[in-house]
Amino acid sequence: MKIAVYPGSFDPITNGHLDIIERAAKIFDEVIVAVLINPDKKGLFTIEERVELIKRVTKNIKNVKVESFYGLLVNYMKEKNAQVIVKGLRAVSDFEYEFQMALMNKKLDASIETCFMMTNAKYSYLSSSSIKQVVMFGGCIEDLVPSEIVNDIVDKINKK
Ligand code: PNS
Repeated sequence: MKIAVYPGSFDPITNGHLDIIERAAKIFDEVIVAVLINPDKKGLFTIEERVELIKRVTKNIKNVKVESFYGLLVNYMKEKNAQVIVKGLRAVSDFEYEFQMALMNKKLDASIETCFMMTNAKYSYLSSSSIKQVVMFGGCIEDLVPSEIVNDIVDKINKK
């Protein structure tokens, strides 16, 4: 059984993330979306909220699980019996950072492969931080994030 982990901050999940999840779910037997618990970085949504939002938008994809993890990704992968890390690449600017992480993970555990998926061109400019900025200044995020979570994001930012 091929188990892949798609790790990230997902603060919040975007249509670009969801597109990668849907495509990965067609390739691997199981895809675990893993939200990193980073005590040094206070996000917009709590880890529990991020997990809930991702669960909500992936509920119809049977082989997708959503969890959070703390610590080294390779240790979490071992615990889950997962062999592949899935990452999305949007632009050349993502490459250097992703390349460095993939090599570090390979150094930490040579049995793990990182599999990069090219973003869908229509989402190549999307990022969680740009979504937050657009909402903060009153812009529209329909089509940028799954429709089921638009109000959660708008409400959260307006309450801040
Ligand atoms: O969405 P992000 O913030 O680009 O995701 C980064 C993430 C969570 C994939 C990365 O920070 C990570 O894997 N962190 C866990 C710590 C770790 O394993 N570090 C070693 C690789 S550099």
